Amino acid sequence: MIPPSLVTEDLTIRFGGHVAVDAVSCAFRPGELTVIVGPNGAGKTTYFNLISGQLAASSGRVLKDGVDLTRLSPSARAHHGIGRAFQLTNLFPQLSVLENIRLAVQARAGLGWRVFRPVARFTELTARAERYLEATRLTAVAHQPAAALPHGDQRKLEVALLMAMEPDIYMFDEPTAGMSIDHAPDVLDLIAEIKHDQSKTVLLVEHKMDVVRALADRIIVLHNGALLADGAPDEVMASRIVRDVYLGTSEDAA
Ligand SMILES: Nc1ncnc2c1ncn2[C@@H]1O[C@H](COP(=O)(O)OP(=O)(O)OP(=O)(O)O)[C@@H](O)[C@H]1O
Ligand SMILES: [Mg+2]
Repeated sequence: MIPPSLVTEDLTIRFGGHVAVDAVSCAFRPGELTVIVGPNGAGKTTYFNLISGQLAASSGRVLKDGVDLTRLSPSARAHHGIGRAFQLTNLFPQLSVLENIRLAVQARAGLGWRVFRPVARFTELTARAERYLEATRLTAVAHQPAAALPHGDQRKLEVALLMAMEPDIYMFDEPTAGMSIDHAPDVLDLIAEIKHDQSKTVLLVEHKMDVVRALADRIIVLHNGALLADGAPDEVMASRIVRDVYLGTSEDAA
């Protein structure tokens, strides 16, 4: 079996007396898309924050290819290949869509986030940026300021920026939340494409059951911060305990 790219060992965080993520041990492999489900407040986003470094664990460890990342900052973890969808605060709103992607490509190439660079290098970086632009179907809005994009295109731009960083681990937290039904399929197609790359590990928090069915290779269930179930989608969906704690609340959202 392929060794895991990402491992959490007894990963735990307490807020005061509340254990939001409770000793979660789980391994994720390249070529696998794992959907994380669970009721509101189950700890899904907090688990992501612990993996990407936005929150520091109370105890337990996060390992990427066997390297302990637990004490590292979010940007250091990003250098190790942990890719969390960019928040809009990371955009340069006044710069164009293409320029934003080019800056992400440039940062990945170790050239920092400065705008002005020698021309030859600039051309090469732009060519790479254009590939991500096409992959995310944003070519038509390439020269618009990022801030002027409609919500659906901004979400696609977040995916483009994430792809430009070439992470090994892709983490998506409800990527279609707040999207109109005509935009959601684009972002889901992108995630499906990323999943086809057997070198990538994808973690997806998703409530919509049709999306879960379409994309999941595996489902894990969090409940009260703890790992309640882990397995093949059919098995997990069919299990009694999951139906009781999760599906009862989620079918409305499907
Ligand atoms: N920074 C924080 N300080 C205190 N409590 C927090 C903090 N972040 C999360 N929590 C608590 O941790 C628990 C898990 O929250 P989390 O946002 O991870 O749930 P979730 O599974 O992502 O829920 P949802 O489906 O609504 O997005 C909740 O009880 C929440 O109030
Ligand atoms: Mg959440």
